[in-house]
Amino acid sequence: MTWVITPKMQFYLHDDESLLDGLLRTGHEVNYQCRDGYCGSCRIRKISSSHAVVYPISPLAMVDEDEILPCCCQVQGVIHIDHELIVE
Ligand code: FES
Repeated sequence: MTWVITPKMQFYLHDDESLLDGLLRTGHEVNYQCRDGYCGSCRIRKISSSHAVVYPISPLAMVDEDEILPCCCQVQGVIHIDHELIVE
């Protein structure tokens, strides 16, 4: 079971649920478009995680070291994120 901690709440992901879908299911406002690692619009900040965040297929979108793409990453254990929009 994967636990997700945001500034708003703590919740767990269902089996085979993406982090993006989990955030949307629990009422978080997250931008997204492609859901496939291309556009980068879903970028969120990772504060910490008990396990490495991995991508089954390397995304094309550029992300900073502390950012992840919740549409296509795989997380496990406990992950602490800030889902607030990243504005540049
Ligand atoms: S929605 Fe496009 S990279 Fe996540």
